Amino acid sequence: MLVNASEMLKKAKAGHYAVGQFNINNLEWTKAILLTAQENNSPVILGVSEGAGKYMAGYKTVVGMVKGMIEELNITVPVALHLDHGSYEGCLKCVEAGFTSIMFDGSHYPIEENVAKTKELVKICAENNMSLEAEVGSIGGEEDGVIGMGECADPKECKMVADLGIDFLAAGIGNIHGKYPANWQGLSFETLDAIQQLTGDMPLVLHGGTGIPADMIKKAISLGVSKINVNTECQLSFAEATRKYIEEGKDQQGKGYDPRKLLAPGFEAIKATVKEKMELFGSVNKA
Ligand code: 13P
Repeated sequence: MLVNASEMLKKAKAGHYAVGQFNINNLEWTKAILLTAQENNSPVILGVSEGAGKYMAGYKTVVGMVKGMIEELNITVPVALHLDHGSYEGCLKCVEAGFTSIMFDGSHYPIEENVAKTKELVKICAENNMSLEAEVGSIGGEEDGVIGMGECADPKECKMVADLGIDFLAAGIGNIHGKYPANWQGLSFETLDAIQQLTGDMPLVLHGGTGIPADMIKKAISLGVSKINVNTECQLSFAEATRKYIEEGKDQQGKGYDPRKLLAPGFEAIKATVKEKMELFGSVNKA
């Protein structure tokens, strides 16, 4: 069932668990994530970065694929189709294409401009029954060529943006995209606590879910995180399983070169990673 992410995240915040946003890259990714959500009776958010949207031949292609799969695979759990780190223009394109949720990443603008653009999108999302995520304090690491420094958001700015009528808020708390470096300082729970105290019931979003230890994930959820984004970890497990298949020479045995065979171990690996995350986040049986 394709829905916006507002209701599922309100329920998650009240129920002290988090819904996973898993980024998609192609058909295998999308199918693996949807089937795993259904098998675990879990709500799920499919994340699409602007780069991945382009790679998959545009947002309309993505909407067609996701809607088709939900129908043909009988996916009845709540599924949101969400633009990840959207530019203002990218957000408008996804509204038109039929996404149910968008993230406007205005974290690199001065706060006044971030507020002004977010405000416009609040109105547009309300008119289109879509949910909106805003960001304060940029997330570190590299994503689609944009490198953030992993700063901690100012809780007062978080409150200002949360009050604009958005549905959930991403705030930097020392998290970064991709693998964490060995000298990573960990999440700033002090910042997260201060943000939650000012923003109350607003579901908070933790980006850079790959590689955050389980105890930190649990603590973040206890401090109001209701949506956790995972991308790199699925890519790593897909690559590892595919490498193993090729290194074992299986693509050269029989019809092992058939993409339906060659991509199967990676597909299963994504499913296993997603299941593990749903269990850790506590979203199993919360559909
Ligand atoms: P990772 O790639 O570190 O899991 O981060 C995903 C993310 O935050 C997407 O917005």
